[in-house]
Amino acid sequence: MKAIVTGGAGFIGSALVRHLRQSGVDLVVAFDNLNSGHKSNLYGLDSGVSLIEGDIRDYDAVHSAMENADYVFHLAAIPSVPRSIVEPIPSHDVNINGSFNVFRAAADRKVKRVVYAASSSAYGDTEILPKVETMQPNPKSPYAAQKLMGEYYASVFSACFGLETVSLRFFNVFGPRQDPGSAYSGVLSLFMKSLITGQAPTIFGDGEQSRDFTYVEDVAGLVWKASQAPGVSGRVFNAGNGNRYTLNETWSILQKIAGRELQANYGPSRRGDVKHSQADTNSAVKFLGHAPQFTFEEGLRRTFQWYQQSLA
Ligand code: UD1
Repeated sequence: MKAIVTGGAGFIGSALVRHLRQSGVDLVVAFDNLNSGHKSNLYGLDSGVSLIEGDIRDYDAVHSAMENADYVFHLAAIPSVPRSIVEPIPSHDVNINGSFNVFRAAADRKVKRVVYAASSSAYGDTEILPKVETMQPNPKSPYAAQKLMGEYYASVFSACFGLETVSLRFFNVFGPRQDPGSAYSGVLSLFMKSLITGQAPTIFGDGEQSRDFTYVEDVAGLVWKASQAPGVSGRVFNAGNGNRYTLNETWSILQKIAGRELQANYGPSRRGDVKHSQADTNSAVKFLGHAPQFTFEEGLRRTFQWYQQSLA
């Protein structure tokens, strides 16, 4: 069995590459342009893993990588809500045109299924929590709109081109290997870096916004299940934990884990930011067998340990 993971050298992609090998996939090809991914994320992996340096905007490269592929896991993207506001053109090009290439090549190669990394940002602000897949999407940023378009293409390829697809709306994934190197990095990677370097983090707004932070291993497990579950082609599922924590709560838990106190700075709210995010997990549990293994605190502990070893 052969699987392609676009974005396979990224932090979520590389966790998925490991998970696929452990789940019995013989050959896993990470397809990545190393824009935000790193070769080092794949170090130490066995000969069942290979890396193709390529860009999803290049149709021929994508098509060629998919030769004899059984499954495609499409995670490559330019992430970040604020980045998509500051630089909308590259994120549009990669997240929409690149995704179209991936679906088109997968249909042409007749792969068994594509699992697409969609985003919880598609919901925008909703009055009702948790957010359930039947709600009307309400994107608030280019990134959210792009990820939603990817979902629409996934279902359309299922309906019109006989390609099996499943979209998973990732809810603020965190864990080892998340790169804290940019202002656009995920907030938990920035919090981890702050605790290790002793430099106070900045919290945008009052810190009372909340997120359903989801540990990367749980996401990798669900992605694999989504590739195997029967009768779900064309559908969209939440990939979250079902909980939510405010940034203030999260920062406080993390200081306890690290055994270090550091007063956070507060700055203005970020444009395009969603106030609260929490997944309804019922559909993912029922149709995909979603079974998260890690509590938020356990995920934070494991992640902090990793940053301690790799940033110290
Ligand atoms: C959004 C999506 C998420 C997706 C991610 C990809 C939502 C609810 N979630 O994450 O599913 O995976 O895009 O990029 O839309 N913050 C600070 N200080 C910082 C950095 C961030 O306070 O230094 C705040 C942000 O303002 C935000 C929260 O932390 O309120 C989380 O931000 P971030 O980690 O960037 O992720 P989202 O934009 O929520």
